[in-house]
Amino acid sequence: MKISIESSNVVISIESNKTENTRPSDVKVITMEKTNLSKSSINVEPIEIKASKDNKIYLTKSKDTDIVFDIDKFIDLYRWFFDKESEYDKSIKVFSKQESKDSCWDLLKNKNLNVYCIFDKGSDIIGCIVFRNKPYFNKPDDTNIDDNAFMIRMLFIDPKYHRKGYATELLKFAENIAISKKKDKLILNVISGNINAYNLYKKCGFKEIKHK
Ligand SMILES: CC(C)(COP(=O)(O)OP(=O)(O)OC[C@H]1O[C@@H](n2cnc3c(N)ncnc32)[C@H](O)[C@@H]1OP(=O)(O)O)[C@@H](O)C(=O)NCCC(=O)NCCS
Repeated sequence: MKISIESSNVVISIESNKTENTRPSDVKVITMEKTNLSKSSINVEPIEIKASKDNKIYLTKSKDTDIVFDIDKFIDLYRWFFDKESEYDKSIKVFSKQESKDSCWDLLKNKNLNVYCIFDKGSDIIGCIVFRNKPYFNKPDDTNIDDNAFMIRMLFIDPKYHRKGYATELLKFAENIAISKKKDKLILNVISGNINAYNLYKKCGFKEIKHK
């Protein structure tokens, strides 16, 4: 398996791009949940991507074909995701290229987060879903932790592949994992202006539960 890694590591916190205190008053974080989970077959094969402390990237995959994980493509897509998020919430910091790189390494090394990517046959990254093993509703503090829930922390699809059902497939994948972990619900947070994501979650059976 060929893996290309070109970045060096300077680690900053993945949560540090959120400055909750300065969120504009008209921007809300909506928590949504899906209960009555059921297992379904999926048409994608998400591969877990992890980095070790010494910056080696590991891919957990079951299929025979080689996947070339291009960290630079991943960084670009991740940066695009935060640019998108900052369109809906001006308090989310737009990453510089270097910050995006640093934050990506932090993401891939974070023990509380599991990063899964899907690829097309040419190893192009189609999209990514990130789970958090300590789920929270609106604030990542102990009072908001729900141990019965499985949390989707991030979801993004490369714009080239939009409206082809990939995010829907990744949400089914999340549901299958939640069931295998004996969780009884899925939760996620979405920024109020992100209508595309809100529509996606509604269509996939999520219901709004809390506003902040
Ligand atoms: C939101 C996002 C993940 C959707 O990915 P996708 O693979 O295109 O979604 P799907 O093809 O599975 O779409 C499923 C449904 O979601 C809704 N939806 C998705 N994109 C939409 C759009 N641009 N406008 C309106 N509804 C949209 C539709 O109901 C769609 O069903 P339809 O195509 O039959 O109408 C993608 O647009 C994205 O990466 N956005 C930027 C990052 C982001 O907002 N992530 C979520 C943060 S909480």
